[in-house]
Amino acid sequence: MSIPQSFLQELLSRVDIVDVVGRYVQLKKGGANLMGLCPFHGEKSPSFSVSPAKQFYHCFGCGKNGNSISFLMEHTGMGFVEAVHDLAQQTGLQVPEDDLSPQQKEQAAAQRQKQATLTDVLEHAAQAYRRLLRGAQSPIAYLRERGVSGEVARAYGVGYAPEGWRNLASVFAQYDDPLLEESGLVITHADDGGKRYDRFRDRVMFPIRNVKGECIGFGGRVLGDDKPKYLNSPETPVFHKGRELYGLFEARTAIREQGYVLVTEGYMDVLALAQRGFANTVATLGTACTPEHVAKLFRFTDTVVFSFDGDTAGQRAAHKALEGALPYATDTRSIKFLFLPPEHDPDSFIRSHGSDAFARLVAGAQPLSQFLCTAAAQQCDLTTPEGRARMSSHAAPLWAALPEGAFKRQMLGDLAAQAQLTPAELLEDWQNASHRAAGHKPPPPPGHTDALVQRRKGPARTSAARPTQTRRSVPVSRADHAIRLLLAHMAFFDELSHEHLAALHALGPPYSPLLAWLEEQFHEHGPQTWAVLHQRLQDHEGQALAEQLMSGTHAQAEGDVGEWRHELHDLLNRLLVEQLGQQATQALAAAMSDPAQLQHYRTLDARRRDLLEKLNRAGT
Ligand code: UTP
Ligand code: MN
Repeated sequence: MSIPQSFLQELLSRVDIVDVVGRYVQLKKGGANLMGLCPFHGEKSPSFSVSPAKQFYHCFGCGKNGNSISFLMEHTGMGFVEAVHDLAQQTGLQVPEDDLSPQQKEQAAAQRQKQATLTDVLEHAAQAYRRLLRGAQSPIAYLRERGVSGEVARAYGVGYAPEGWRNLASVFAQYDDPLLEESGLVITHADDGGKRYDRFRDRVMFPIRNVKGECIGFGGRVLGDDKPKYLNSPETPVFHKGRELYGLFEARTAIREQGYVLVTEGYMDVLALAQRGFANTVATLGTACTPEHVAKLFRFTDTVVFSFDGDTAGQRAAHKALEGALPYATDTRSIKFLFLPPEHDPDSFIRSHGSDAFARLVAGAQPLSQFLCTAAAQQCDLTTPEGRARMSSHAAPLWAALPEGAFKRQMLGDLAAQAQLTPAELLEDWQNASHRAAGHKPPPPPGHTDALVQRRKGPARTSAARPTQTRRSVPVSRADHAIRLLLAHMAFFDELSHEHLAALHALGPPYSPLLAWLEEQFHEHGPQTWAVLHQRLQDHEGQALAEQLMSGTHAQAEGDVGEWRHELHDLLNRLLVEQLGQQATQALAAAMSDPAQLQHYRTLDARRRDLLEKLNRAGT
């Protein structure tokens, strides 16, 4: 949603940057400005200055600077729109949403209100659980036995939900408040006359916070061996397991200081590592690492180290994380995989072997390049031609998921070497396989590698170069049109799903450099007009394409934003259907040598048909 510049100015004049920064950084008066320890780089003496007069922060150490909005974005990882809403809420200003209907506005406001109320309720419970831990013998003994220090327990707000069915009745004024049920704290029995009781009983409670530090849910661990070992909050309007990471809020400063984030699988891993020098640790919440998790982490750092337990479940989880991470493996980022010895998780490992041993594991973690090769070769005997062929078919979808760039080209070389082929031969194999599966005639003999890469990665462009059947007949390719809409309405970036974003990145050059640049601009500066963008684009490799796309018509900059949003959504769905079709074809081809790919094919194809049906239902 596009937020008018005039509103941003008003907003920035109403908030005080000293309050905004002061929520996260301890500031002391130093002349006209306030000084504190820079939250963006590790330092012992303060070089981070905040100017109340200029409403601006500046770090003399690392050079980071900006206003209240950029501070929130940089420090908490909020998106632009999120940061604006956060500030507006504090000042009581209403963010104008011109492009929404009155009904949509009402819904959006109601939703925000509900979310704020739910996090308040959860925070109230978190405080109560913390209070209830004090003096409670069994949970304190349990935590002590597991080696958790009081300091770390406090830092993570660990609490205790005592035995009994209605402890929260004495915490909240109204135990039958529907909010208690909606927040997942209380369960209402369907039969039994709708009897209500506490979800969490006799469990050690780990509050889960979002990037703003608001409590959005809990994980609760039994003190003994009962099942389930952990009980988590259900999905609620504020809590989505596939998006949130335990400990991210608490870890954010350490992540910046240490320059990387460590991703583990468990609550106790986070506590154990934080206590022993690895405060830059987070955990997924009993789910595999999703692309959304990865995207979120890369808002905080360029280096992600995934840690996996040394069992088969850990191996499976590593595969999932690999798939989630591939689309984000740009040349400036680093992704590593750490495997613990069998029978260990990070908690048990660091407690029995110590911090130094763990630091050595981190230092020796496998880089993505290596793990990608290993993953592709799993269950393949590379000493036989059959095994190598199988490996190369496993590798195809993995390699294809990488964003364009030097790393991707390097990987082609590595995978080709592993297949004992030249890069051109490997690409040709892949391409033939996908054409065979699609029932196409074999492609013309390859020219050179680049052309092949282009053909492989740019399918959406070649096929979309034909007139498409979008609602309006648009005489340009889908890719052109989509990028043009994003150039004209950068604010749409905040609304793109990860699936759509991935589909855009998969377009490859010449779109990808421009797209990456544009996305970065959006995250750094918020939505900009084409005039400003044009200025900034001077001498950028995407300049020519952007100019070409924006020339002639500026229609997209005018008209009904809601309609352009709809158009973009529609376009991206079509693009996705196309890409999913191609990936499914590849998976099917691969399934001939590896039956495991059949499941992958089914998943892709199901998603494709699902989307297609939606598009058709939308009456287009
Ligand atoms: P693990 O079973 O590996 O447990 O689950 P753990 O973290 O090592 O637990 P401790 O050390 O015995 O306390 C890893 C994560 O999976 C989720 C939790 O998020 C847990 O931290 N999980 C596990 C559940 O949600 N429910 C369960 O019953 C078990
Ligand atoms: Mn454990």
